[in-house]
Amino acid sequence: MNNRTEIEKRIDILEDDIASINSTLLKLLLKDKTTRGNIMWCTKDYESYGPLYDEHAQIQVELITGRYSNVIQPRAAKSKAVQEQRIKKRAEVFTPSWICNEQNNQVDEAWFGRANVFNTPNGTSWITTPDKIIFDDIKKTWKAYVDAKRLEITCGEAPYLISRYDTTTGELIPIYERIGLFDRKMRIVNENCDNDEEWQKWSLRALKSVFGYEFQGDSVLIARENLLYDYMDYYRERFKEEPPIDILKRVANIIAWNIWQMDGLKCVVPYSCHEVKVQDYKMTLFDFLDEDKEEEKVVSCPGCEKNDIFKHNGIYCRIYDWTNLNKSIPFIDVFKEGNNYGEI
Ligand SMILES: C[S@@+](CC[C@H](N)C(=O)[O-])C[C@H]1O[C@@H](n2cnc3c(N)ncnc32)[C@H](O)[C@@H]1O
Repeated sequence: MNNRTEIEKRIDILEDDIASINSTLLKLLLKDKTTRGNIMWCTKDYESYGPLYDEHAQIQVELITGRYSNVIQPRAAKSKAVQEQRIKKRAEVFTPSWICNEQNNQVDEAWFGRANVFNTPNGTSWITTPDKIIFDDIKKTWKAYVDAKRLEITCGEAPYLISRYDTTTGELIPIYERIGLFDRKMRIVNENCDNDEEWQKWSLRALKSVFGYEFQGDSVLIARENLLYDYMDYYRERFKEEPPIDILKRVANIIAWNIWQMDGLKCVVPYSCHEVKVQDYKMTLFDFLDEDKEEEKVVSCPGCEKNDIFKHNGIYCRIYDWTNLNKSIPFIDVFKEGNNYGEI
């Protein structure tokens, strides 16, 4: 397990490293806030390691640390054969950073009402705007920008939210050149928070405003780790020291809520829809001769049967509403009553 390639060494976050910062941190990053258990593998890619790596099994700390520390790797470090298998099974093709950048630029253009606020695209790269970002609309303050909610659907390793490295090439991206939606918010926090307390408050608010969901458990964990490491990079840059463990635990808790495992076609925990047995009463012509005839029959989940997202009998995933209600809500409610929860 020690023969790591250059690309793995550069971008792969070893689960052992997280566990060595603090053992609770990795546990927090494996949590599924909806089921209160852990996230599941939800991929057959690891089944050769044994029954505990079955796609329906939960990812446990001991399965990815110690001699198994190298088991989970980012897509760019996975073998070509595994990459191709994942394309076929789950359409896993990751977007290069320069494309994420151009799309994120469009999101910001809609918000600011002007183009190329954070950078100017330059072929398959970009030139970062050197000057402080200006907020010249009374309603569109820097605080409103930091709080504005952003969601990356089917987020994979979340390249639209965080750009520590290019997910397609594995190249590391320096902190000032990052183009993720969270990175942009952190730039604004850095430029507008003079005192440390304010910085801490607004950096956590930036974190609370970015969301992503994904089916495959390894990608969910990598996206969470990327967000944690990105936050740590900004903290170190600001304070020139390692973030204290109590802050990291708060950060990991927010991340475990905001990057969640979900079957996005159903808004439920993967594989949680199920068949149910029902008593079926059938009336026949001879009913008057007979006692009531009840038969047991097995029916599938009504949502899956009718392809109706609101009718699944699986476990609807919950997300946390940090700004309005300060409690968890089913994500499906955001679909139903989107406007009550603010724009995402
Ligand atoms: C094309 S990749 C995009 C990943 C990332 N957003 C990016 O742009 O690089 C699609 C992702 O969707 C995930 N996916 C496939 N089916 C899904 C489902 N039903 N629910 C949630 N995620 C799913 C795959 O695991 C994969 O990570």
